[in-house]
Amino acid sequence: MKAQIEELKKRKNAIILAHYYTLPEVQDLADFVGDSLSLSKQAAETDADIILFAGVNFMAETAKILSPNKKVLIPDIEAGCSLADSCPAEELALFLQNYPDHTVLSYINCSAKVKTLSHIIVTSGNALKIANSLPKNEKIVFTPDRNLGAYINKETGREMVLWNGVCHVHDQLAANEIFELKCNYPNAKVMAHPECKATVLALADFIGSTAAMLNYAKNEPSSEFIVATETGILYEMQKQNPSKTFYVANNPETCACNDCQYMKLNTPEKIYNALLTESPEIILDDDIMLKALKPIQKMLAKS
Ligand code: 13P
Ligand code: SF4
Repeated sequence: MKAQIEELKKRKNAIILAHYYTLPEVQDLADFVGDSLSLSKQAAETDADIILFAGVNFMAETAKILSPNKKVLIPDIEAGCSLADSCPAEELALFLQNYPDHTVLSYINCSAKVKTLSHIIVTSGNALKIANSLPKNEKIVFTPDRNLGAYINKETGREMVLWNGVCHVHDQLAANEIFELKCNYPNAKVMAHPECKATVLALADFIGSTAAMLNYAKNEPSSEFIVATETGILYEMQKQNPSKTFYVANNPETCACNDCQYMKLNTPEKIYNALLTESPEIILDDDIMLKALKPIQKMLAKS
């Protein structure tokens, strides 16, 4: 299958982008594996004719918005995102009527329509930097992740108004589980994604995006780590640090697994079929793409 995918890629001048949360066999097929920030930069810069995005819909939509003349394919159109779904554009538009003088800062994990209602997009990799770049007295509404928003408020001293959305994978992680792991492995450093609850983040030695956590794992001298995020990151982390041990923080009271079921919908078979048939394709209204481009460009200019 790898050889067939390679042949299709070459013949069609296609590139495969994959998020760190996808399955190992999907990451192995990709030309570039990254976090949301680096993937959006890759999508903006590639000269391929076709971008196959092994990730979730909002990521593929962002690639399409940044490269509207390219064909953007997603292996499974059902690959959504609970966080993006927690902020329907129509409800947000009504909510924003209460805050007419506020800047709308939105996490990239939102729909293209929500991006059209936003002034600046951020990712977990640049959220603090961008929030800090805005004047101290600027009034801000932050969407859609209440945990990331609360983390930015805490770190920057801001009082952003928060939309009440969460990612089901990160929000279910529980502080008592991390605490138990810390008791079992007292020398382990804890790293957490800022989509986790404040009680989890309070126990973390390091908080950062997927790529930032990979850097931390590589550069921190400790040989043991407790990882509070989606499990897919473990593949690259273990590859880069074969002599280090990583313990995944699960929540035994829920599903005892941190898999994002949307990310895991991407498979080599679906990638092959998508490249062969050039579908499912991401199609967005020109008007939506134009409006959504501005806040994404502002983010890229500030990153
Ligand atoms: P990153 O910004 O770290 O890539 O995270 C994306 C994501 O979907 C986290 O759940
Ligand atoms: Fe969305 Fe959460 Fe999956 Fe990330 S892990 S894509 S935020 S549902």
